[in-house]
Amino acid sequence: MRFNLHTKTRMRSDFKHQLGSLAESFDSLAHAVTVSDLSKPDHPLVYLNKAFTKMTGFGEEMLGHNCRFLQSDLENTEARAHIRTALEANGRCELVLKNRHRNGDEFYNMLLIDTVRGYKSLPPMAIGSQFDLGPEGVEQAADCAVYTTQSQSSFSVPLTVKMRLERRRLYADAVERMFRSWCTLKEVSSRS
Ligand code: FNR
Repeated sequence: MRFNLHTKTRMRSDFKHQLGSLAESFDSLAHAVTVSDLSKPDHPLVYLNKAFTKMTGFGEEMLGHNCRFLQSDLENTEARAHIRTALEANGRCELVLKNRHRNGDEFYNMLLIDTVRGYKSLPPMAIGSQFDLGPEGVEQAADCAVYTTQSQSSFSVPLTVKMRLERRRLYADAVERMFRSWCTLKEVSSRS
């Protein structure tokens, strides 16, 4: 089936429209938030917030695409395998990937993904929180990547880095909880 531009734009903004005031809340956050539809081939993005556009330079024109477009020519072999395993297991993951900004600049992206399934009125989805580790983060990114995949208590990471990592986890958890609450309310209202 062929869609004209107007229909495509409408389809793309559909999920944001459904999210309503939650989309406004996500737009007010300083960190990037994305949602992918896991029921569709190649898990297309169905939502991205303003901070994602600020961080990457890409906006709603990327809805309908898999978020790997940020990797461009960068390999990220291990990290990608880690994400695929987490998505297949309906689990969560936390890692650091190399990504490229729209202008081609590389940056280290700390990515936290959680899967959200089990709602009859909604497709299975994944929600991601993304953080640009910034210029000073480049050197720390290797540590973060190890830190996130090894036993956290046994790995020696400077306290300031640990605190920043912890803060990002809290933000990502809060976003995930808000999203799950929204899904629950949506489910309840679809029954009544
Ligand atoms: C992703 N992925 C992703 N990748 C990336 O390089 N930068 C990002 O910001 C994101 N964000 C993101 C959010 C959400 C919600 C999901 C589900 C996934 C990962 C990417 O889409 C893909 O899953 C991985 O690249 C692994 O799959 P492939 O590329 O090996 O098929």
